[in-house]
Amino acid sequence: MGSLILTEQKEWGALVTLNRPKALNALNTDVLRELDDVLTQLNAQKETQVVILTGSGEKAFAAGADIAAMREMTPGEARQFSAYGQAVMTRIAGMRAMVIAAVNGYALGGGCELAMACDIRIASTRAKFGIPEVTLGVIPGFGGTQRLSRLIGVGRALEMMATGGQINAEEALRMGLVNHVTEPEELLEVCEAMARKIAANSAGAIALGKQSIYAGSEMDLNRGLAHEAGLFALTFAHPDQREGMDAFLEKRKAVFK
Ligand code: CAA
Repeated sequence: MGSLILTEQKEWGALVTLNRPKALNALNTDVLRELDDVLTQLNAQKETQVVILTGSGEKAFAAGADIAAMREMTPGEARQFSAYGQAVMTRIAGMRAMVIAAVNGYALGGGCELAMACDIRIASTRAKFGIPEVTLGVIPGFGGTQRLSRLIGVGRALEMMATGGQINAEEALRMGLVNHVTEPEELLEVCEAMARKIAANSAGAIALGKQSIYAGSEMDLNRGLAHEAGLFALTFAHPDQREGMDAFLEKRKAVFK
């Protein structure tokens, strides 16, 4: 495993750290490739129930796609870079594990897009969010024009896109861009407490619940409900269903496989 991404195994899964602090964890192709590899490996490990993704250093989760690397790109190269970044970020929604973004500082451009691609976002009071691409003469290319409007609504996404301005963690919380805000020194602790809570539940059921929510958010209600019923039925083919229900009825803690 390369040094641009650090991975630490935990009892609930893995802590994954973007590790390019001198460039504020800017995302170039090497970082994306390593992140892609790490996510692929973690998805193959059944014991990884939660991934916490954060940035190294005090200042940034990730300050965006790498501007120096993008400067000389042709339109064709930019399209490839965008498609690859989007594919890596979209991989997160398809993972069995729940992925929590621990946003420890700047989450700008591609960094904001990466945080938005995670399942849950927890921000430190130091976090700053924005999609400042228009200040560079470009638009977001890692899903920012799509995921931001889905998370906070079209009107607010348009304002953030067109002004290129930053919002702080409290504003992000009010808009629904993040789930919780913590003091910087408590960020990982809060994320890990959530990770432990998630890991105590049925991993198989969570994976199906995640799939149902993501797929359903792209469907009309009736198709979404039919999709949910199919996945609900599938949980009854897994031993976790019997164990979870037996444990409730026997007034004991469930032990899931
Ligand atoms: N790409 C490449 N390098 C970056 C970077 C980025 N996105 N963001 C920061 N850096 C580098 C800086 O160039 C600087 O490097 P040097 O020390 O070698 O000069 C180092 O990180 C520290 O940055 P600053 O000195 O600028 O730190 P600061 O505290 O003064 O400012 C900041 C912090 C406000 C985050 C500022 O760095 C900044 O505005 N960064 C760019 C943010 C941005 O525009 N992101 C969008 C990128 S485009 C994109 O993401 C497209 C897409 O969707 C695919």
